[in-house]
Amino acid sequence: MRHRVSNTLPEDAQESTESGLRAQFGNLKFLLPHLWPKDRPGDRVRVVLAFFVTFLGQLTIAAPFLLGNAIDRLAESDPGLVLPASVASFIIGYGLIRLVGAAIPQAREFLFSRVGQRAQRKVALETFRHIHSLSLRFHLERRTGGLSRIIERGIRSIDFLFRFLLFNIGPTLVQLVIVSVIFGLTYSGAYALVAICTVVVYFWFTAASTEWRLKFRREMNAKDTEANTKAVDSLLNYETVKYFNNEDFEAERYNRTMKGYQDAAVRSNVSLAVVNIGQALIFNTGLIVILLLAAKAVGRGEIGIGAITAISLVMMQLYQPLNILGFAYREIKQALIDMEKMFDLIKVPKEIVDKPNAQALNIQSGKVEFRNVNFHYEADRQILKDVSFVVPAGESLAIVGPSGSGKSTISRILFRFYDVRDGSVLVDGQDVKDVTQDSLRQSIGMVPQDTVLFNDTIRYNIAYANPEASQQDIERAAKLANIHVFIESLPNGYDSTVGERGLKLSGGEKQRVAIARTILKNPTILILDEATSALDSATERSIQEALRHVSADRTTLVIAHRLSTIIDANQIIVLNEGRIAEHGTHAELLAIDGLYAELWYQQQQSEPITT
Ligand SMILES: Nc1ncnc2c1ncn2[C@@H]1O[C@H](COP(=O)(O)OP(=O)(O)OP(=O)(O)O)[C@@H](O)[C@H]1O
Ligand SMILES: [Mg+2]
Repeated sequence: MRHRVSNTLPEDAQESTESGLRAQFGNLKFLLPHLWPKDRPGDRVRVVLAFFVTFLGQLTIAAPFLLGNAIDRLAESDPGLVLPASVASFIIGYGLIRLVGAAIPQAREFLFSRVGQRAQRKVALETFRHIHSLSLRFHLERRTGGLSRIIERGIRSIDFLFRFLLFNIGPTLVQLVIVSVIFGLTYSGAYALVAICTVVVYFWFTAASTEWRLKFRREMNAKDTEANTKAVDSLLNYETVKYFNNEDFEAERYNRTMKGYQDAAVRSNVSLAVVNIGQALIFNTGLIVILLLAAKAVGRGEIGIGAITAISLVMMQLYQPLNILGFAYREIKQALIDMEKMFDLIKVPKEIVDKPNAQALNIQSGKVEFRNVNFHYEADRQILKDVSFVVPAGESLAIVGPSGSGKSTISRILFRFYDVRDGSVLVDGQDVKDVTQDSLRQSIGMVPQDTVLFNDTIRYNIAYANPEASQQDIERAAKLANIHVFIESLPNGYDSTVGERGLKLSGGEKQRVAIARTILKNPTILILDEATSALDSATERSIQEALRHVSADRTTLVIAHRLSTIIDANQIIVLNEGRIAEHGTHAELLAIDGLYAELWYQQQQSEPITT
């Protein structure tokens, strides 16, 4: 069961190998330019100060020695009522240094926060732009939800790595060095050795045991996802459950997965307890050893009694950051993986790229030509076979043919969502491969087969073609697309929202919104991919009329299913299994009495009204 849920958090952690780890750390170099921005000297100063302050903060680990000194003085001084000034100043000094120690992380936050957040935003933006620049092929193969999750987690991982590597583990190691030096200088090397050994063993144990625990966590997360999926699926199928009186069956199934989660959670918690006990054992053994050493030295009169307090306080301070080491270890590992995934995304090469020095398309009148085009999406399945046609400027070409014959594919190739394998596609005599994608797409308006709208207002969706369009322009486009009256009839008019993917509008309404926004774009070349879904004849007529408005005086490619809609086209090609089977005007094709004529008479019989 477990392997079915593959995208849970620690499962990913399993993928990391030694070389993977190197690659993960290698990704840090992508971050450096953002953390050390060339064009922002102020940010560089902030970074330097943040490091300086952080380092300074580590010196506060020495504070307990002041307290130790105060105790020594107290022990030596004669019993009296007055507090010796030296003792008071040591105590005040101790308190002040601790105060500084508490303030320093805040100061660091103040200094670093803006740089860190800016770096995160920059990397997120870079990733987002890159994803938009990747090909349609890439997007059809990826789940969009997965992509946004990769960015989101990648960004969070950056923050995490800073916090834990730079400001937690790094400083702890610095503290250890400082403590060792002070121990060595004021007492003896033995103390330093014990402190170092304790921390090193602690580090090792935490890493090893956390690694061991990962499998329990993984299992727990997998069971959690499984229970969740089953519950959601069950609730989504509410009606079906009722139809079959299966409430008890569903409850039993839910209970079983929850039981699985319960067992896994118990194992995970028990293993955490084992880790915690082990950590406490290691640390306190170190503490006992070092205090025994100190007690012996105090007994011999080698060091003052205050040393006992100082040493135990220092050890406690050292322990504080170690306390969260297991958590930090796991999260750092996960963060490295998350970050790697995000950078892997940035490294995905673009399929369609502008040639070096590509010029902008010099659009004149919008003549379109396909020359012996062969095309396949996947190597072993040819889709277009030797397709050639010319659409003179301002004229219309209708493409008809059975479902799956490659009609929409022709439109995607003209728009350069894909590059052709051989042959060429020319717009006003220029190969689409030689001009910039921006300029090409600027000149082409596309009303796709399935229109998807942004989950925003109707106004936003129409104005998407030109965000600066005035209300007047928007309304003019809506009128031409035969949708203005409908929009006005809505309670909120142009401010009505269209719902997720535009699903609050009917198919016909959606398509007319799409036509309106294409009118607003005002392209030289127009591609209309007729929706297959049957519309009632009133809507159909209304859309046809809208289309006639848009296509007047523009080079137009119409992909049509109902032949009645294209009898006026200047030329018609009949596509069959990716090949042009017939080519001519409506009258010529009827005269040939081939595939087109057959389709025509078939449709005449089934829909006699729509002529
Ligand atoms: N991204 C893709 N990857 C692989 N195959 C694809 C892809 N897109 C389309 N195809 C295949 O290419 C063939 C032509 O598809 P296309 O969308 O051009 O058909 P169509 O003529 O527009 O059909 P319809 O009339 O149903 O819209 C189909 O068999 C389809 O399965
Ligand atoms: Mg199609």
